Amino acid sequence: MTARNCSEASFELCPSILAADFSCLARDVQAADAAGADAFHIDIMDGHFVPAISFGPGMVRTMRALTRKPLDVHLMVDRPLDLVAELAALGVERVSVHAEVPGGPGAALAAIRAAGMQGGLVLNPETPVETAGAYLPLISQLLLMTVQPGRGGQPYLPGSNARIAAAQALLQTAPHPVTIQVDGGITARTLPGAWAAGARSVVAGSAVFDGDIARNIAVLRRSVFP
Ligand code: DX5
Ligand code: ZN
Repeated sequence: MTARNCSEASFELCPSILAADFSCLARDVQAADAAGADAFHIDIMDGHFVPAISFGPGMVRTMRALTRKPLDVHLMVDRPLDLVAELAALGVERVSVHAEVPGGPGAALAAIRAAGMQGGLVLNPETPVETAGAYLPLISQLLLMTVQPGRGGQPYLPGSNARIAAAQALLQTAPHPVTIQVDGGITARTLPGAWAAGARSVVAGSAVFDGDIARNIAVLRRSVFP
């Protein structure tokens, strides 16, 4: 095995299982795991915060049985606080909550931290990056949506790289390191720009699971580390 350089070590690729073939989930997850996925992204949607319903804690339990890689849960639900204790009990490492939820994300982020998990704040494309300022002490990750949340396979929104750069500047004021994660429309064409702007954790659904998973992961990595 060749040693990765420092910059490559700071890159995290998180396949989004929303794009996996659910009839062969174990096969797809194990293929991505073996090909070097760093963590798995699990999109929970409740049909209220976003129109779609995806899956819930039962899927998280299945994923915990399928992989030892960190589980990165993205809550697209109106009541994130209701899920925190169950996710912690299932062994989830990281949970991200939208800034736009009714009542705000503060209580859920505090509970995530109190339960010993890492917290993430998610911003929809139209939410100002400055919104994150109030939550920096509670989070280890700032997830910038680079599509409208709710479904996979959409194109990367123009303006996303400028938002990443603005978030990067804001995070200089954080009391501890906060990683910028991007989610939506990531491909080998869009990833280099997101990386250059400051994203270090990258979610990819269709670009990982449509077609040859090992090859797709290699192509994504090569787009930033030729
Ligand atoms: C969208 C989800 C994403 C989705 C990304 O609401 O949060 O995680 O799976 O899918 P792609 O990579 O296909 O845009
Ligand atoms: Zn997501």
